[in-house]
Amino acid sequence: MLPSSSMAPKIILAAFFVIFSLKFYSAKSETWVKGGYWYSGSGFPSSDINSALFTHLFCAFADVNSTSYELFLSASDEKEFSNFTDTVKQKNPSVSTLLSIGGGNAKYSTLSTMPGLDSGSFPVKEMEQYLDWANVMAYDFYSPQWAWISGGLSSNKVVLNLPFYGYAWTLANAQDNGIGAPATGPATTEDGDMSYKDIRDYVLSYGANILYNATYVVNYCTIGTSWIGFDDVEVVKIKVAYAKEKKLLGYNAWQISHDDNWILS
Ligand SMILES: *[C@@H]1O[C@H](CO)[C@@H](O)[C@H](O)[C@H]1NC(C)=O
Ligand SMILES: *[C@@H]1O[C@H](CO)[C@@H](O)[C@H](O)[C@H]1NC(C)=O
Ligand SMILES: *[C@@H]1O[C@H](CO)[C@@H](O)[C@H](O)[C@H]1NC(C)=O
Repeated sequence: MLPSSSMAPKIILAAFFVIFSLKFYSAKSETWVKGGYWYSGSGFPSSDINSALFTHLFCAFADVNSTSYELFLSASDEKEFSNFTDTVKQKNPSVSTLLSIGGGNAKYSTLSTMPGLDSGSFPVKEMEQYLDWANVMAYDFYSPQWAWISGGLSSNKVVLNLPFYGYAWTLANAQDNGIGAPATGPATTEDGDMSYKDIRDYVLSYGANILYNATYVVNYCTIGTSWIGFDDVEVVKIKVAYAKEKKLLGYNAWQISHDDNWILS
């Protein structure tokens, strides 16, 4: 069995694709968002964040009370979140911090009773009018049903999310190991998700070859019957270049504790 990532929540169901950013700063055309999520459940101390690498840091997650719809934090998060901004500003006084609401463990039904969202029915017109940007999850899916920009959101309000993790699958047949090869299930004790750091440690310890597929813009490697798909440095570079070419507002990493010595950041 491979080491499993400490990433407890499977981030963000369809309805949480968008993390609404507060209208706290006026977007300037020259702004390039370099965002990252810090997740309290990662065990990664906020004081260890190299905040000089980011323009925006998301503190994750606040939850929504299912009867009063008020935001709340667990007691331990409350303590950690209260000085998050002070802590990360020590290394980068100009970094902006945002509170992230929801996450994979959030109760979908609570959130869906407020705007009644499902994928494809986001209020794009209102988002375009009132929001500075939307973080768009461009991973954890098989085929996109529609695209945000063709749906009416300006490209300079789209921030591309980057996964700092991958998935380890158990192949049905070790010899059949291309993209889309049959698998029998996850290759870790949990859901198969592994942090970039754990993937790198694992791959290096076996001296395995990391391959790149330009059709799917993804890295992958095979070790025995374990098959791991993930974004390595070259994929992150290509995605960031793509975001610039499409004149998006920037990128966001989920989640920064999964990085290996800030290589991807
Ligand atoms: C949710 O709100 C209700 C009503 O204000 C309150 O009684 C309850 O304790 C809250 N639950 C949590 C988990 O905060
Ligand atoms: C922030 O709060 C945590 C938890 O209470 C504490 O361990 C840490 O020292 C505080 N950091 C700063 C910079 O005040
Ligand atoms: C990527 O993988 C798919 C599936 O195996 C394959 O059909 C395609 O040719 C590969 N692309 C490149 C550029 O190698």
